[in-house]
Amino acid sequence: MKTRTSFPKQDIKVLLLENIHATALEVFHEEGFQIEVVKGALSEAELAKRLRDVHVLGIRSKTRVTAAALADARRLLTIGAFCIGTNQIELDAANVRGIPVFNAPFSNTRSVAELIIGEIITLSRRLFDRSREAHEGKWRKLADGSFEVRGKTLGIIGYGHIGSQVGVLAESMGMRVLTCDIKSTMAIGNSQSLATMEELLEASDFVTLHVPETPRTAGMIGAAELARMKPGAYLLNASRGTVVDLDALADALRRNHLAGAAVDVYPKEPETNSDDFVSPLQGLPNVILTPHLGGSTVEAQAAIGKEVSVALTKFVNAGITTGAVNFPQVELSPTPGAHRILNVHRNVPGVLRDVNRIVSDLGANVRAQTLATDASIGYLVTDLDQDVSAEVARAIAGLETNIRTRILY
Ligand code: NAI
Repeated sequence: MKTRTSFPKQDIKVLLLENIHATALEVFHEEGFQIEVVKGALSEAELAKRLRDVHVLGIRSKTRVTAAALADARRLLTIGAFCIGTNQIELDAANVRGIPVFNAPFSNTRSVAELIIGEIITLSRRLFDRSREAHEGKWRKLADGSFEVRGKTLGIIGYGHIGSQVGVLAESMGMRVLTCDIKSTMAIGNSQSLATMEELLEASDFVTLHVPETPRTAGMIGAAELARMKPGAYLLNASRGTVVDLDALADALRRNHLAGAAVDVYPKEPETNSDDFVSPLQGLPNVILTPHLGGSTVEAQAAIGKEVSVALTKFVNAGITTGAVNFPQVELSPTPGAHRILNVHRNVPGVLRDVNRIVSDLGANVRAQTLATDASIGYLVTDLDQDVSAEVARAIAGLETNIRTRILY
């Protein structure tokens, strides 16, 4: 979105760490922002030093953004996590300083869905075992235990962005799709939604998990749930490691109750590619173990670069916070000809009244205004009909409740 801003765009400094994809640089370049790129992550002290002078920070999963790193970041407007998770950022510390954090929750969903589809066929034909044997010089041409997926039933637990794409792709291969979700969801394609997970476990040849990590999904698939699955069925988990009890899964596989499994996520995952990885599933036949790479594709990285940089740019240019993970959500389209002021304040009663009194005392009229709050802060976007923004912004900044005030244009 191209908008005029009172702060010259060429003075906006963007610091991008950890090899963020070039699609992000293109978006910032197009805006005319200054861009500084650092290949790796920065230490807390180094980050704190750099942030004194930066308006937009982009990181991936390795940079820890702590309260201490933010302490002197007076110019910092917003942070982009060019990944899915935001645990590496102290979100509350950013929130109370009026700094929205954006991430890319959906850019890699297709990549995960495609991985699942690949694994369904791979498990059904026992491809990894046959391939390993062939590498070892063994010729094991077998039809036993090898099946087509056409006509088989796929049960999808968690029918959100990923689950629904898996369903569509699976149907195109002739599979019957059952789903269950705690929300009522719209069935896409010919999928059939079931009332309980138990029904789905009992009816499916393949069960794939696409739920988030929540207290309710922790340990959701344990010995009792695996026992409900059809003998000879397969389990796939590319959601979160806490969802499946891996000891119970290893036991079900060893007893040949299940014919195979594909696991991408683990309760405890190595931090780096050089750390060791241990799992009770290692060495079991027809078990695919992958290192949390469901969303790791070139396309997903490019899409993440674009999704996050566009969100950051919309915030810098228009104050839009839709999709921010730690911030009240405001999406007010710019009012043509109006002057926009953004204000973040402590969430106490009476701020809107105080702000609007300032506006009317200066003889300006509000053309559009949106306020959203969370437990700690309020975020107010005001479009004025007259260019008294500087005076208004100064007076609002003087309010005892003020955290940050910014004139946009
Ligand atoms: P989403 O939020 O679009 O969908 C999740 C669905 O699960 C929602 O419809 C929700 O209502 C449902 N759900 C929540 N609790 C449930 C429960 N107890 N029982 C049944 N349904 C429940 O999320 P999305 O984008 O589809 O992601 C799904 C999972 O995939 C997440 O855990 C995410 O972290 C993981 N993921 C893994 C990746 C990988 O590299 N392996 C990459 C991207 C996402």
